[in-house]
Amino acid sequence: MVHQRADSRLEWWKCCSIYQIYPRSFQDSDGDGVGDLNGLLSRVDYLAWLGVGAVWLSPVYRSPMRDFGYDISDYTDVDPLFGTLTDFDRLVAALHERDIKLILDVVPNHTSDQHPWFVESRSSRDDPKRNWYVWADPDADGGPPNNWLSRFGGSAWEWDARTEQYYYHAFLQEQPDLNWRNPAVRFAFADVLRFWLRRGVDGFRVDASAVLAEDPLLRDEPPNPDFDSKTPPPERFKRVFTDARPETMSYIEEMRAIIEEFPDRALLGEVQGGIDRIGQFYDAERPRFHLPLNFLLLDTDWDATSLAAGIDQYINAIPDDAWPVWILGSHDKPRIATRIGIEQARIAAMLLFTLPGTPIFYAGDEIGMPNSVISSEEARDQFEALVPGYGLNRDPERAPMRWDGNEKAGFTSGEPWLPLGDHVKERNVAAQLSDDRSVLSLYRQLMALRQTEPTLHSGQFQPLRSQSQVLLFERCSDDRRLLIALNTTTGSHTVALHDRGMLRLSTHLDRLDEPVASQLHLRPNEGVVMEMLTSSL
Ligand code: GLC
Ligand code: MG
Repeated sequence: MVHQRADSRLEWWKCCSIYQIYPRSFQDSDGDGVGDLNGLLSRVDYLAWLGVGAVWLSPVYRSPMRDFGYDISDYTDVDPLFGTLTDFDRLVAALHERDIKLILDVVPNHTSDQHPWFVESRSSRDDPKRNWYVWADPDADGGPPNNWLSRFGGSAWEWDARTEQYYYHAFLQEQPDLNWRNPAVRFAFADVLRFWLRRGVDGFRVDASAVLAEDPLLRDEPPNPDFDSKTPPPERFKRVFTDARPETMSYIEEMRAIIEEFPDRALLGEVQGGIDRIGQFYDAERPRFHLPLNFLLLDTDWDATSLAAGIDQYINAIPDDAWPVWILGSHDKPRIATRIGIEQARIAAMLLFTLPGTPIFYAGDEIGMPNSVISSEEARDQFEALVPGYGLNRDPERAPMRWDGNEKAGFTSGEPWLPLGDHVKERNVAAQLSDDRSVLSLYRQLMALRQTEPTLHSGQFQPLRSQSQVLLFERCSDDRRLLIALNTTTGSHTVALHDRGMLRLSTHLDRLDEPVASQLHLRPNEGVVMEMLTSSL
């Protein structure tokens, strides 16, 4: 397992930390309660100060906002809610002036039902764009063509009364799936990518990229063996005929080839199908994604044993020369600070920035933002209404960023589109800027440490046996050996060391450069990075 490279000039996407911004919730500039590009532009100095190397921006395209921008009605324009193409160009320039890359979210699997392509496609069976979407006749009883289910509930097939066929939608019924088998669709999409690459974006995060192709025979999905009364109904069947199909892999290769027409760009992909299948989304005979996104840290039980096992499983599931990637938060998953608590969220941060591979976190994680509590009646995310009762509402992790402790948290002068949530007084940027032991300080120091310690991005990863729920591993390069020890419990623990070392950073931010001999004492919820002074543990 060697992720080490002799030269220290790694590609940017290997050594930068990536920061996901959900534009609705980052910074509002015009008082409508929804974040926008000019708001984001006013915060680029914060991003530079924080030390992130790239921003991944969730969709800002024109959209009816049924899925808050993941339902696109024009791929080559900015929605007026967020601003204009000129604002976008200014944002790219401002980020680049600060050496920050911009990764744009793109959504190739589906469009909005308002997209002119779909409007034409559904206009008649003879329309030249009919075959741009996935249309099928009813089954023998007049019902949907097969048992495929939408991830957002109910059949994935929607009846079109005028043309008397069903269209397929893996997500909302307002998000019809494009027919990627049709070369004209792939051609049009390649031009969409080129449009943004020419505007200077440094890469894409490809949304729902594993579900581009569906089985042409429309075979029924088999039952999901793990389905029980707690499983949300959309997961009743195993997605064998609609997820990670071989054709999808070749479409990803085509997208990669478009990226390669431009120097120094990166392709990130949202992939499904579980950790064991993640390896196939990297390079096969032809390159696929640079970084197929890995959500393991969000899906693993939070204890040293489960983490060690999960990390091991992931590292073994990717090809030897593949570059790992880790995600700590996203607009689709409950916030880490709520799931494991604010103390352990510090451990999670140290883990994220010391594991081998590219770290990705979500705006607000750096101040320990919690989920905002949102009742079903207040829910804006349609997922909640369509599949109620399983806690699937994604609004809690989409609450606005807190810049200060004022009533509107510095996010807007108007009414925020979602309630701000709890702990605004202490969990905001201004409060944590003036506290040198805050979560924000920790994030900043961890990113700074990664910059000054190339061993943390290119060193070999050496797992060690966990002791008393303290997760242990090393990162090693020719001349340096770093030990990372993370106490995943609320008790104190002592770890026996075979070598002496020097403590470089504690998650508590109160001890630095302390020598440690044979025993490392860790306080509750404490993690440390140590530089080892002699050769082996
Ligand atoms: C991805 C996005 C999610 C969206 C879905 C449909 O999973 O991350 O927010 O709802 O795709 O576009
Ligand atoms: Mg599809």
